[in-house]
Amino acid sequence: MRKLYVFDTTLRDGEQSLGITLNVKEKLEVARQLVNLGVDIIEAGFPASSPGDFESVSTIAKEIKGAVICGLTRAVVQDIDRCAQALRPAEQPRIHTGIGVSPVHMERKLMLSPEQVIERAVAAVKYAKKYVSDVEFYAEDAFRADPKFLVQVLAQVIAAGATVVNIPDTVGYASPWEYGELISYVRQNVENIEKAIVSVHCHNDLGMATANSLAGIKAGASQVEGTINGIGERAGNTSLEEVIMAIYTRRAGYGVESGINTKEIAATSRLVSRITGVPVPDHKAIVGANAFMHASGIHQDGVLKDRETYEIISPETIGVPENTISLSARSGRHALKHRLGELGYTVEGTELDAVYQKFLQLADQKKEVFDQDLYALMGDAGTADTGIILRNIAVTTNGSDTATATVTLEHEGKIVTDAACANGPVNAIFSAIDRLTGNTAVLEDYTLKSVTRGREALGDATVKLRHFDGSLVVGKGISTDILEASARAYVNALTKNFRKKARLDPVAK
Ligand code: KIV
Ligand code: ZN
Repeated sequence: MRKLYVFDTTLRDGEQSLGITLNVKEKLEVARQLVNLGVDIIEAGFPASSPGDFESVSTIAKEIKGAVICGLTRAVVQDIDRCAQALRPAEQPRIHTGIGVSPVHMERKLMLSPEQVIERAVAAVKYAKKYVSDVEFYAEDAFRADPKFLVQVLAQVIAAGATVVNIPDTVGYASPWEYGELISYVRQNVENIEKAIVSVHCHNDLGMATANSLAGIKAGASQVEGTINGIGERAGNTSLEEVIMAIYTRRAGYGVESGINTKEIAATSRLVSRITGVPVPDHKAIVGANAFMHASGIHQDGVLKDRETYEIISPETIGVPENTISLSARSGRHALKHRLGELGYTVEGTELDAVYQKFLQLADQKKEVFDQDLYALMGDAGTADTGIILRNIAVTTNGSDTATATVTLEHEGKIVTDAACANGPVNAIFSAIDRLTGNTAVLEDYTLKSVTRGREALGDATVKLRHFDGSLVVGKGISTDILEASARAYVNALTKNFRKKARLDPVAK
């Protein structure tokens, strides 16, 4: 079995494309979980793109051990300098540099001749090698490049010291057999290819990113790049969890093995969804809520007789454990801690006390507390670090037109109350909070869904606010009262927004 290196770019290709800027704390939390998952390389960001990205890469480089930490650059000296600076504390740093190699990229975007592109590519790799020994080169839009030219570029960057060569299908144009053929062609025609690892990096514009990546692996690529839940530019990147489970389930056919701890897949997917605010569709392969549900009578009958009739992966393999204890208001701390442990959360001491109090409040409102409730509770516990605290809301509505909301907050150390009217209760609550906090960020998106089923289900609200510099922040809130969940999500997003503003402009309020 060949070793397949797993390169996660959730924090770079995934994050950059969403318009959502994750803060350093959020990125660190994802990076820690990626180490638990067992990825080999974490692409932590593009340090030259913003001071925030620089800080994130440098903090991850300092704090995260057990994986290669990688930063992206263009084939530009200043980018490489910034990247090397951000990666300085890393145990195993990698610079990922590259340039467009397709005719449309060279002629229209870069306005460079093929010879100039090769010159820039070689110079960038040599320059990056002055800082680190591990340099990955990406040939942007490789799939639409002239294969003969691609071969020349790759041979020269490997001669210049590239340790990994990345062959992206940047615009998701390939079909699996063609992408597989391109990888075979590169392996057969680049004279010094044995000195570098060949990497696949696919986008999902035609829904084929996973299939294309697998075709590339079958053709001999030893590194796969992708994101958790497939988030990314336009239709997204390759979903790493899909590639990992395809290889795990059909090992013999691919002839490769990854070092991934599959039991961490579900937890990683949930974390990325919570932090980015990008929901996982119910029918999503591997990590969707329905991926292991059997609905029709014939299927249920089959599964009850033998799971293998309709199940190719057991939920436990990806870390969705079978529930054996029922949690309610009568459950103690021990039972809660045990169940949370099975779901992948380690909570001890005062943190356990705080979570247990929240659990009891919830259990008072519900007969039984389900796993989904606990995920939501832990998600909310994770975002409870808020500088603005929601103290109370009261809403009155009169039929179809106006609603009035009175909101009390703890803001800047004072208890403040104000009211606002609007065409609906949620709008009225958000307006009252704006009046109390002086918020000017614009509401970009608001969603509300129920966690678990039934009348007492928790409402899980997500709010996206457009920040003054154009980026988005995501706030989450949960409660059995959907108006309270909405208010909490709004307050959570506002807190992040104010913190961000204060960081970027210390004199601004
Ligand atoms: O899709 C792509 O080509 C990329 C490169 C920058 C690696 O993301
Ligand atoms: Zn990409």
